[in-house]
Amino acid sequence: MDKIERLAVFTSGGDAPGMNACIRAVVRTALFNNLRVYGVLRGYQGMIEDEFKPLTSRSVSNIIQRGGTILKAARSADFMTAEGMQKAWQNLKSHQIDAVVAIGGDGTFKGAEAFCSLYPDIKIIGIPGTIDNDLSGTDFTLGFDTAINTVIEALDKIRDTAASHDRCFFIEVMGRDSGCIALWSGVAGGAEEILLPEKVSDLEALVAKLEEGKKNNKSSSIILVAEGEKNGGAQEVAAHLKRMLPHYDTKVTVLGHVQRGGSPTAHDRILAAKLGVWAVEALLQGKNRQMIGIQRGEMALTPFSMATRQQQPLDMELFRINQILST
Ligand code: F6P
Repeated sequence: MDKIERLAVFTSGGDAPGMNACIRAVVRTALFNNLRVYGVLRGYQGMIEDEFKPLTSRSVSNIIQRGGTILKAARSADFMTAEGMQKAWQNLKSHQIDAVVAIGGDGTFKGAEAFCSLYPDIKIIGIPGTIDNDLSGTDFTLGFDTAINTVIEALDKIRDTAASHDRCFFIEVMGRDSGCIALWSGVAGGAEEILLPEKVSDLEALVAKLEEGKKNNKSSSIILVAEGEKNGGAQEVAAHLKRMLPHYDTKVTVLGHVQRGGSPTAHDRILAAKLGVWAVEALLQGKNRQMIGIQRGEMALTPFSMATRQQQPLDMELFRINQILST
């Protein structure tokens, strides 16, 4: 097994709360094992542009509670080219880096897999860092718990005004092609309906449900819409409803990037600590080209190719539960 002496860590793709806590865990675990550690700024783009900086234990002091990422994040088109990857490899070699911890999502791991095929002398372990919770091989990704807590905080506030004005609110949440944020925050926030990319939305049934609610003296409603929902998002669904029920007072709120910010929850900080420690230990044990995750509380390693091949299936039992409770 090749000895690892120098490790680099970077964050890539969309930032997610808990990334800083995870950088801290990676850096301190590496130092604990007598490795030298470098942070790469701006993900793969910084790797191409030689933005490496040595990190010490003090470099990661007082960041456990901070949202965003001190290493910055980017989506790099250059890294998708052979020249970009070669430049990144040359820079890693010039800093004598043997191993890398990549914190990111789907695109980050697809990039890592392609890079490992071309340059197998650099070992890479990935840590799932995305609010979307859409990766196979882990029950939770870093940032998801914080994001759904942000959503329900907003939803609770909207509920106050929705009830005061007898309005029907459509709240659009992030998640790209995944409905995980919408489903979990919809159940936690008591949404009347949750519209998901994974399930064909029956808008006629939604109209009927809202009318039924009216008959049962329900004067306001909250519909949670995942951004990847197939009717085109909250604006389109609200417009459809308005055509069907012109007397309804409808409003749309798109939560947007507020879901990506904020101080990580305790759940995300603990996940960051576990995944950060496990990632470095996995590299020291000779593991490579895999994402480290958590499944039923246990550490789980999944090859990059599997983690990105299919999206984590949604827990449709949660959807069924919400149908029962949202009457
Ligand atoms: O992957 C995280 C995410 O926030 C998705 O939920 C969303 O679709 C996307 O990133 C937005 O990306 P950007 O910040 O580049 O607009």
